[in-house]
Order: sequence, then C-alpha cells, then structure tokens
Amino acid sequence: MANITFSSPVMAKDVTVYAVAGDRGTILAVAKSHHIPIPFDCQDGECGSCLVQVEHFNPKAKAAVALTEKEKEVLRQLGKITKEEIVEAEVNDVPPRYRLACQCFVRNEDILVKFEGDKTKP
Ligand code: FES
Repeated sequence: MANITFSSPVMAKDVTVYAVAGDRGTILAVAKSHHIPIPFDCQDGECGSCLVQVEHFNPKAKAAVALTEKEKEVLRQLGKITKEEIVEAEVNDVPPRYRLACQCFVRNEDILVKFEGDKTKP
C-alpha cells in the first residue's frame, strides 16, 4: 500500500488516497480514479501538461527511478530537471523533484504530489 497525498491550490484541501502498489498505475491514473484534477492532455509523456512535484515522506524509501527518455526530454524542455538530477536518477536512484504524472508509476512508498492545476476551471 502506498499513501499518495495530492496538494494543489485548485483543491480546497489536500487529499490522501491509498494506492495498491504493484498494480502498475501511474500517478495520473490514480489521480483520475479519485477525481483529483491534475491537468493532462496526451497521457503519453509528450506534452508536459501533467507536470507534478513529487516529495517522498520517507527519504530512505526512494528506489529505482524509472525515467524514460521521453520523460527526461519533456522535463528538460520544461526546465524542470537538471543534468545533475538526471545523473543522480540514473546512477544513484535519486528521484528528481519533478515528474510527469502520466509516466510516473506508483510504488510502495508514501509520496506527496503537488501540482498547480488549472485555476480557470472550478
Ligand atoms: Fe502529456 Fe503527461 S499528459 S505528458
């Protein structure tokens, strides 16, 4: 089980949901199934709409970061990942601060997911 807490200025309060680790769900899939309004478009790691900030509650629980080339490229284009963070992720399994919710799979760890959201929508 993983606790995922979603936090955004577009939500009245933070929402924590329980995700079953290992079901291969992405953060975006979990958010959608709980009506958390993370913006998205392509759902294929190409548009960058689903950018989220991910914080780990237990820093020791960080493990095996799976950044695809696509996700790295989009994060780079958005200016949300540095060369150093890519090296840290690939060599030392240190997760970068930002992820694409449609590309980031939920693991057996508690995380805080922050996103800006679309303030023009209710
Ligand atoms: Fe397009 Fe995630 S929805 S990158």
